[in-house]
Amino acid sequence: MTDSTTPRKRLLVRTWGCQMNVYDSARMVDVLAPLGYAPTENAEEADMVILNTCHIREKATEKVFSDLGRLREAKQARGGDMVIAVAGCVAQAEGAEITARAPWVDIVLGPQSYHRLPEMVARASRAAGAVIDTEFPPEDKFDHLPETTTKQGVTAFLTVQEGCDKFCSFCVVPYTRGSEYSRPAEAVIAEARHLVSLGAREITLLGQNVNAWHGEGPDGRPWTLGRLLRALAETPGLARLRYTTSHPRDMDDDLIAAHADTPAIMPFLHLPVQSGSDRILKMMNRGHTADEYRRLVDRLRAARPDLALSTDIIAGHPGESDADHAATMALIRDIGFAQAFSFKYSARPGTPAATMVGPVAESLKDARLAEIQALLRDQQAAFNRTRAGMVAQVLVTGAGRHPGQMAGRTPWLNPVHFDGPAHLAGQVVPVTILAGHPNSLSGVLAPSVANHTRERPAA
Ligand code: SAH
Ligand code: SF4
Ligand code: F3S
Repeated sequence: MTDSTTPRKRLLVRTWGCQMNVYDSARMVDVLAPLGYAPTENAEEADMVILNTCHIREKATEKVFSDLGRLREAKQARGGDMVIAVAGCVAQAEGAEITARAPWVDIVLGPQSYHRLPEMVARASRAAGAVIDTEFPPEDKFDHLPETTTKQGVTAFLTVQEGCDKFCSFCVVPYTRGSEYSRPAEAVIAEARHLVSLGAREITLLGQNVNAWHGEGPDGRPWTLGRLLRALAETPGLARLRYTTSHPRDMDDDLIAAHADTPAIMPFLHLPVQSGSDRILKMMNRGHTADEYRRLVDRLRAARPDLALSTDIIAGHPGESDADHAATMALIRDIGFAQAFSFKYSARPGTPAATMVGPVAESLKDARLAEIQALLRDQQAAFNRTRAGMVAQVLVTGAGRHPGQMAGRTPWLNPVHFDGPAHLAGQVVPVTILAGHPNSLSGVLAPSVANHTRERPAA
């Protein structure tokens, strides 16, 4: 434990990539707190800097090295008195390559080794060279990480599943995060209760393939994600549940049914499709066709008619023709997404797609991506406009940008701004939506606020 005799040290953590990295960064802060490290935003005053990195596309990886260049100067300005650690998926993929390119880096650690960080910091202070740990250790890091003691915001992340066995042709995640692993149900339920005790009202379960989660329930029976969500919905004080990211192949009947019978599960689902062309989906090794995705969405919407969907699309996978691109545009039109992320295909070393025939020219990728993004932007704006006039149950997350204004999110994950008192933070309140903007909504508090502080019906 930190006591008054422990010198205060400053820790800067920079995070790239997915929400799992955001969760991991918070856990690294937790694991270093007993060593006397307190967070800072300022590199100049940092005794230690951790870059929690992402390897998913080339650009993400390159950002790490430009940041390391700047940190070298900051370290020199402190006479070398700064521990620099590279964590996350670039660390896992590149290992010792990082210290070869940037010898001022002290620690390189993969995503499965965060619980060993205190020991690595101690070793780094003694060692002449860098300390590198990119093993997939046999022990479970979750068993060795301390419970967080940081006060939570109204919304919190909880990692329930890690790794991926799907091996999509374009993707590095199976190599950087290892094979699929599900945390035990009891540990997840306990962590959810703990997060709520620290102030969380909404929890988003995280996993590279979160709906591949499976495990033994406290009742001794095999559970899948639907059952886990139903159990978590009983957590006293928890208003809302979400989960991300799902794979279409792991969307089982029980999980779809949970959307119908569990009001705490919010009607918003991120379900990446990547392409609308069967030929490309096959080359991507996604394991489903475009029509199978359409039918899955039909079943989800039958279970939860107000479900809003989000997706990921890749433009210009090797072999993608004009007809394949047109099929992707058609699928986007058919589904109508409330939100989406779209990316230019980026060749990743070591993945099967990187050596496939028929790479798409950069200019063509740009043109296709622009077309996809224009359509997705229109769909998002159209979705937001349909919220106008509704009374939405809004989870108030905190103060808005202007005085007297509060911010929150709808069940469909739209940010909302409205005038209201600060004490509403953490409550679910009805807000009449007045306007849908391209990226957010604005509204006014609806009457009878006091009667609407819970998402779930009282009965
Ligand atoms: N597990 C999730 C995705 C994780 S990566 C899933 O299966 O959907 C997040 C997104 O990054 C992917 O959905 C994909 O759209 C994009 N992505 C992954 N590898 C990429 C690459 N090589 N080039 C461009 N985009 C990529
Ligand atoms: Fe990558 Fe595919 Fe696994 Fe998603 S399912 S993490 S895209 S390999
Ligand atoms: Fe990036 Fe690793 Fe997440 S590659 S997207 S940080 S799993």
